[in-house]
Amino acid sequence: MRARSALVSGLALLLLGARRDDAPPPAAGRCAGTAPTAAGSCADCHAPIATEWAASAHAKAFTEPRWRAALARLAQPERCHGCHAPEPVQNRLGRPPATRRENQDAGVDCAACHEHRGALTGPFGSSAEGHSADANPLFRGAESVHLCAACHDTRIGPVLPLVRDWRASRAAARGETCVRCHMPREERSVAFDPVGGAATGPLREGRSHALLGPSDPDFAASAFDVGIAKRGARLELSITNLAGHRVPGLVGRSFEFELVQRDAGARELGRGLTAISAENPLFVDETRRFRFAAETGVRSAVLTLSHVFAGSRSVVARREFSW
Ligand code: HEC
Ligand code: HEC
Ligand code: HEC
Ligand code: HEC
Ligand code: HEC
Repeated sequence: MRARSALVSGLALLLLGARRDDAPPPAAGRCAGTAPTAAGSCADCHAPIATEWAASAHAKAFTEPRWRAALARLAQPERCHGCHAPEPVQNRLGRPPATRRENQDAGVDCAACHEHRGALTGPFGSSAEGHSADANPLFRGAESVHLCAACHDTRIGPVLPLVRDWRASRAAARGETCVRCHMPREERSVAFDPVGGAATGPLREGRSHALLGPSDPDFAASAFDVGIAKRGARLELSITNLAGHRVPGLVGRSFEFELVQRDAGARELGRGLTAISAENPLFVDETRRFRFAAETGVRSAVLTLSHVFAGSRSVVARREFSW
């Protein structure tokens, strides 16, 4: 209920904004008044999805400060634009995306994934008022990986070929696609009347566009299965990669595992640290074991997992083990 009323008031705000003559361009990309929907911007009718997208890394792909800084050092920065401000990738699947010339700040916009030869496509197919859309298998099941592969299958700059990892993974064998892990399921109406705010379609089994990444602690923690066993004079920490690709998945990121040994009164006896980084990643499906000398009298250990990048460290999970 709460989500619904927040959504309706969000729409009302949006409409107020849209009626003003000096209204800013729509946040959801180059949709206003241009093909494929002369009807309005994507956000006018898809407010919840547009809001999720606007907070995602895809929306910031062209404005992100680290990206800006990396380009400032290059003689031909345009060569990097294709995946960060793309033309619709469906028009040239299997080849690198072409660079979009207008509204580059919208990054990986709605049309980048949903437009195909001037028309919209999606998972369901629709002839509803607003625009028609072709049902496209590219948005369903294993096919959807081709959509992500347009940009995530190449080693370039700091980017690692995660799709290549995925193809050889147990996740792939189980049918766990990029979309299944990174875009959580949502059952809801997907379109709303731009004037009244009422849902203009049935409840759909769809997915959130709030792309999950390592900055979400629970999601980052889901990359690992960890265990600690006491073997004689040693503690053995085992870490298994549960993500669909190597972890971490980008140059400049690392995960730290800090182990604090404690006695029967929970007093600290000593601590040890180990880490994985893009230079020394946990490969897809890999289990790695780290050994620490057990302190005399150790009865329990607290493991703290942190994600580290750009000089800042954030705790992702903490777990206690005892014997
Ligand atoms: C084939 C598509 C593609 C091309 C071409 C491309 N990138 Fe990217 N870029 C990506 C993807 C995908 C990500 C996100 C990777 C991730 O989060 O793991 C990214 C992210 C980045 C980031 C963000 C890193 C961070 O720390 O957040 C930087 C910087 C970057 N790219 C620089 C470049 C530079 C420089 C070039 C040109 C030499 C370039 N990119 C060309 C696909 C591309
Ligand atoms: C005037 C309202 C309106 C505007 C503007 C609009 N849409 Fe839609 N859209 C709809 C309606 C209505 C549906 C059908 C919903 C349903 O059947 O559940 C829909 C469905 C969709 C679907 C699902 C189609 C499928 O095959 O699964 C996608 C994807 C989509 N829209 C993308 C966009 C994009 C991208 C834009 C901006 C370029 C946009 N829409 C602009 C009203 C709109
Ligand atoms: C047109 C190119 C393109 C396509 C297609 C694309 N991505 Fe991305 N993706 C990027 C870029 C560029 C970034 C990095 C943005 C940045 O950090 O500056 C990125 C970042 C990400 C991130 C990192 C999120 C975070 O918070 O760190 C994830 C996860 C991701 N993409 C998943 C996907 C999935 C899943 C698909 C397929 C449904 C997909 N991408 C399709 C270009 C693309
Ligand atoms: C089984 C679940 C799962 C599958 C399948 C999966 N991922 Fe991930 N992905 C994760 C987890 C968990 C993380 C967080 C750990 C990390 O940052 O490396 C992550 C991180 C990422 C990142 C961010 C890397 C960084 O350091 O910023 C990108 C980009 C990404 N995945 C893209 C993809 C793409 C593309 C696919 C499909 C080929 C895919 N993922 C398949 C679970 C999954
Ligand atoms: C990186 C690619 C990508 C981008 C960018 C993207 N989408 Fe999607 N979209 C998808 C995928 C994949 C699905 C299918 C999810 C599923 O399995 O239901 C989808 C589904 C949809 C649907 C159908 C409802 C649902 O939940 O399945 C609508 C409507 C939609 N997108 C609208 C938009 C709008 C509006 C934008 C921009 C604000 C946008 N999308 C940006 C990949 C993308």
